Amino acid sequence: TKPTSKPSKAKAVKAKAAGLRSQAWFDNPNNADMTALYLERTMNFGLSFDELQSGRPIIGIAQTGSDIAPCNRHHIVLAERVKEGIRDAGGIAFEFPIHPIQETCKRPTASLDRNLQYLSLVEILYGYPIDGVVLTTGCDKTTPAQIMAAATVDIPAIALNAGPMLNGWFNGERTGSGTIVWRAREMMAAGEIGYEGFLKLVASSAPSTGHCNTMGTASTMNSLAEALGLTLPGSAAIPAPYRDRQEMAYMTGKRIVEMVREDLKPSDILTREAFENAIIVNSAIGGSTNAPIHLNAIARHIGVELTTDDWEKHGYKVPLLVNLQPAGEYLGEDFYRAGGVPAVVAELVAKDKIKPAMTANGKTLKDNCEGQFTSDRKVIFAYNKPMKKDAGFLNLKGNLFDSAIMKTSVITDEFRKRYLENESDPMAFEGTAIVFDGPEDYHHRIDDPKMKIDEHSVLFMRGVGPVGYPGAAEVVNMRAPDYLLKKGVTALPCIGDGRQSGTSGSPSILNASPEAATGGNLALVQTGDRVRIDLKKRTANMLVSDEELKLRREKLDAAGGYKYPPSQTPWQEIQRSVVAELSEGMVLKPAVKYQRIHAT
Ligand code: FES
Ligand code: MG
Repeated sequence: TKPTSKPSKAKAVKAKAAGLRSQAWFDNPNNADMTALYLERTMNFGLSFDELQSGRPIIGIAQTGSDIAPCNRHHIVLAERVKEGIRDAGGIAFEFPIHPIQETCKRPTASLDRNLQYLSLVEILYGYPIDGVVLTTGCDKTTPAQIMAAATVDIPAIALNAGPMLNGWFNGERTGSGTIVWRAREMMAAGEIGYEGFLKLVASSAPSTGHCNTMGTASTMNSLAEALGLTLPGSAAIPAPYRDRQEMAYMTGKRIVEMVREDLKPSDILTREAFENAIIVNSAIGGSTNAPIHLNAIARHIGVELTTDDWEKHGYKVPLLVNLQPAGEYLGEDFYRAGGVPAVVAELVAKDKIKPAMTANGKTLKDNCEGQFTSDRKVIFAYNKPMKKDAGFLNLKGNLFDSAIMKTSVITDEFRKRYLENESDPMAFEGTAIVFDGPEDYHHRIDDPKMKIDEHSVLFMRGVGPVGYPGAAEVVNMRAPDYLLKKGVTALPCIGDGRQSGTSGSPSILNASPEAATGGNLALVQTGDRVRIDLKKRTANMLVSDEELKLRREKLDAAGGYKYPPSQTPWQEIQRSVVAELSEGMVLKPAVKYQRIHAT
């Protein structure tokens, strides 16, 4: 497919002549006995022969909303409008549940379940009579999980997110999802608020149905789904309760039926150019550090080569344009009113940064967004007058790990002054390692004055990657000890093999791969080691001789390797045995070879 052109009529006609996938179940004269079986049970809630045998596309609605998945719960309402759109376009809607994921409630971490939701959706899309699918995205992992599944099966797919919650407010100030939690923790540690004050402050950030209203992982991944071309234009930013979202649900339902008729598949949309566009958009929106993990995973499942180096190469030099928390001040409603993703892409198009790539509406991203400039420069900045220059991720390497990401758009002035404006060597700093093995260890010891943590310390969190802490915990952004917070030192450099919440404004060095638990050198670092980070050279090293490292490795091997807690559930054990590193998208390694399985 040429990404610049509309899918040709010829292709659509060919798709129709070849028959819909669902006809093999519902209208197959060569297999009458099975066809009868498929039909009788599907019809038992009132569908007719005519509907199922008239060549109408069967459109799945992958339902992720439920009472235990409140971020996506609004999809229960939206699905009704999606169905009306599907009907009006001549399709038949089949709504079905998939494995639920909710980011903040799931123990030990929601990211353990991303690959489980992926697997469950692959099985449904492959094994049932579905011609196209609406992915009901929203909460962090639900967006990549479903896109990964659509990529693997490669039937026409379109994403619709639940939409962010309305803006939260407390005492006249915006309180944003997640971001307020980091702030409230600091306030409690400094003695400014107590238990009740903590709860009220955090609850104020969730005033309505919807997903996180900050530019955390949820809004990031949905903005990137739009940038990849998997939604209708302007879809990602519409707040959940707005009427516009109901309308978008209807239009999304209508459009997926046409996509089936045009045979416009994920493989036509998820090209190398689309991923490069998404990386650039991620820098401009100040997107989550979880984005490289998830986009690299989607790329692996569609068969496009994408590495953490691509994130620095295409994304680092792009400026921050969107003034949303955690990198800025505003929230989801403001982003929508300011123009959302199309207004961001318009800035990038004007600078010729956007490559031709097909989107769900049959036009390119560029055609959809060109000239859609914002009406509010407080929320979406101009490319020439950005909030911050060079706002993408750096990809660091050294004797600590092969790859780790640093989000430069959230480096605070305090952090910059303390660590990066050393006159003899700007952009580089040295410190003394303080090493924690997992979040429990950190919580036990961080406020202990015997640890002698000071502003020259570098905090390490290890054993929290995809294997060490099954699914990789969001715990690398560690707050400074209470005694330093009281002195005004609010951020220490943090390094780890886990992740950090997209709502955190910490410039941690994270997603380090390989992780300690699979043989990474992070397992060798010791409290007291000198550590040197050089952002200009993109290096992160422990200043320990190779000889000493060899001795430490031998000792660790003799002791049976890096120790991590046993699995608590069957899935933890299964995933641990087959999961890839964070830099490789944390995919299930054996799953990657199953590509475009609808075509095979
Ligand atoms: Fe679900 Fe943020 S916790 S969207
Ligand atoms: Mg998260």
